[in-house]
Amino acid sequence: MRLLGSLLLLLLLGSAEPRRGPRSKAVERGARGHVRGRGRPGVMRRQTEVCLEYMEAGEKYLDCQDRQLTTVMQDWPKDIHHLLLARNRIQVLRDNMFAQFTQLKSLDLQQNHISRVEDDAFSGLSQLKTLLLQHNQMTTASEEVLLPLPRLTYLRLYDNPWSCLCPLESLIRKLQLPGNRNLGNYAKCAEPLSLKGQKLKKLNVDSLCEEDIGPEPGVVERPKPPPKIGKPDATSMCRTYMFPKPLLDCSNKDLISIPPDLPSDIVRMDLSNNKIKHLKPKHFVLSKDLKLLNLSSNNLHHIDTAAFAGLLYLRELDLSNNSLQYFQYSVLEDLYFLRKLSLDNNPWFCDYNIHYLNYWLKHHPGVHHTGLICSEPPEFKGWRVADYVKTYNGECPVDKQTEGTDTGQGAQEQSENDAQKPGMDNSDGQGANLPQHLKKAAPNKFKIIRLS
Ligand SMILES: *[C@@H]1O[C@H](CO)[C@@H](O)[C@H](O)[C@H]1NC(C)=O
Ligand SMILES: *[C@@H]1O[C@H](CO)[C@@H](O)[C@H](O)[C@H]1NC(C)=O
Repeated sequence: MRLLGSLLLLLLLGSAEPRRGPRSKAVERGARGHVRGRGRPGVMRRQTEVCLEYMEAGEKYLDCQDRQLTTVMQDWPKDIHHLLLARNRIQVLRDNMFAQFTQLKSLDLQQNHISRVEDDAFSGLSQLKTLLLQHNQMTTASEEVLLPLPRLTYLRLYDNPWSCLCPLESLIRKLQLPGNRNLGNYAKCAEPLSLKGQKLKKLNVDSLCEEDIGPEPGVVERPKPPPKIGKPDATSMCRTYMFPKPLLDCSNKDLISIPPDLPSDIVRMDLSNNKIKHLKPKHFVLSKDLKLLNLSSNNLHHIDTAAFAGLLYLRELDLSNNSLQYFQYSVLEDLYFLRKLSLDNNPWFCDYNIHYLNYWLKHHPGVHHTGLICSEPPEFKGWRVADYVKTYNGECPVDKQTEGTDTGQGAQEQSENDAQKPGMDNSDGQGANLPQHLKKAAPNKFKIIRLS
């Protein structure tokens, strides 16, 4: 009994110790600093109170996002490669503000309140490749600001109210140089009215400084064309995140169609939880780097044949929780590198039209798919589509051959099985094993004509 008592006492002392012990400072700092994520206690040692320092792929990151900061601190580590300052309250970028971070490769300043950038703000950043200034209040800047950045290859300036007047001319010229392909794309003029909405990249710069002379007093200005009020485009509606991978987040925006002007260099795109009903041809044709496309929880009921054209490197496509009943013939043909396809929670209709999807998946065993279950007609409700197709082809010898691999488990296991046996399908060429009814099918065999 006494032994137990002293054990308990020891335990209590043990748990109380850190609060009084030599580590107390670090613990207090941790609590005040609101460190989230992968912070380990050791991380705090050389750390400021508010930011989180971590290593990833051999590079040092300092994550100071969402921290109400108005400037950078002198005591931040100087050997970082990536400085994340998105969503703070920085208003002015002062001369030499980042000069201490000589190793910096990327600097994320998006979603601050930056309205002024002094000419030497970025001096010393000779290694900087990526500079993100989108979603700020900048109206003008000169080419000078980019001079200290010989390696800059990636600059975001959009969603700033650029004033396309003479002072901006040198910067625009710089952006328009053919070698600067990824500098300042999508940035648009907010004024003057006659240029509102025009892209800096496409502007005719020669006229900027002429027009600036302006009308002499007493001279009536010629009427300006009304501003173009287009649909808001992707870069102003959606948020981009650069880390850990470039992501365009357009989720939960009540979108009814894919926004125009999708950035071409985005790797992941989240369009989930919108109201998109129809994917039209070639929406993504410029987003050729896309690896993940999330269209889950929309209202998709139709996908046009060339809707995924250009998505050569897409690896993951999430179409779950939509209203899809079947895929149009050849919808998937452009997706050479697809590895994951989420089809869950769609009202797949098990009739003749579903055969294409089943056929394509069978011939692409590397594509892991989930959720291909019939929900209509009633007699097949709850069946795996693959099983339904087998009943349809009851007599077909090709299906007999593959029957051995069917374990009767869910669709997911089945597709995994298939993925491990890429040689399973011993067809020679596409179309050789195409079921007879598919060979005959012309893409638009049925056309509904409404008489009203
Ligand atoms: C797509 O978005 C939904 C909802 O935001 C999420 O639950 C799902 O995991 C996402 N899919 C992928 C493949 O990231
Ligand atoms: C499916 O989408 C609807 C809206 O289309 C949404 O209300 C619902 O939460 C989504 N369900 C899931 C499981 O994501």
